[in-house]
Amino acid sequence: MIILIGGEKGGTGKTTLATNLAALRKSSGRDVLLVDTDIQGSASYWAAARDDRGGVPRVSCIQKFGKGLQAEIQDLATRYDDVIIDAGGRDSVELRAGLVVAEKAFIPIQPSQFDLWTLERMDGLVETGRGFNPNLDAFVLICRSSPNPVVAESAEAREAIAEFDHLGLASSIIRDRIAFRRAVREGLSVLEVSPADHKARAEIQSLCSEVFNERQSEIEQQAAG
Ligand SMILES: Nc1ncnc2c1ncn2[C@@H]1O[C@H](COP(=O)(O)OP(=O)(O)O)[C@@H](O)[C@H]1O
Ligand SMILES: [Mg+2]
Repeated sequence: MIILIGGEKGGTGKTTLATNLAALRKSSGRDVLLVDTDIQGSASYWAAARDDRGGVPRVSCIQKFGKGLQAEIQDLATRYDDVIIDAGGRDSVELRAGLVVAEKAFIPIQPSQFDLWTLERMDGLVETGRGFNPNLDAFVLICRSSPNPVVAESAEAREAIAEFDHLGLASSIIRDRIAFRRAVREGLSVLEVSPADHKARAEIQSLCSEVFNERQSEIEQQAAG
């Protein structure tokens, strides 16, 4: 499955989520490729740090930019179970390419950055992507929200995105937790970092299930068997 973690804003948690999801899928035995399309290379640094430390399953990561990206990813997807694209950066050539090849796109947004302008831009980009990729599903994901929410974020977010035709809202929420920061810095996932943060673990596991339809496929397998 090709998954895009993208968006035009920096600092929303794209690389944190892409690296965590890659590590989780790898640990569950999948052949995973992380595609770093951000010139800043944070996902590549994470993968290199992971290689250096050892003792955890290796995650393959490549850096790719520019025009040939779409064809390249489609080719790579035939050789991996999962391809996770981290599409950061301001230039949206990579983001657009990702939207054309992905089955699902997740767009992390911090509640503080949850403005109409961002959603409008994303809605337009997803619409364009769907012109080439009609089955694309795109979800806004509330990320880095306060661990002690005082407002009904999901209700507000749902209301805000209801106006847009091409965006859904992910049911998982990722909160701002030190464990996420530490994990990325150390080349780990929040499941591998110590001390363990059980809330961070639960959040990323929930997201992983949602992204890869794990519950869905479990149900299908049970029905089939
Ligand atoms: N859920 C989170 N909790 C705490 N810190 C986070 C979380 N997600 C991201 N961060 C931190 O925020 C900064 C930006 O995150 P990053 O994943 O690099 O964002 P992006 O790739 O969207 O620019 C990093 O310092 C990262 O450690
Ligand atoms: Mg990034």
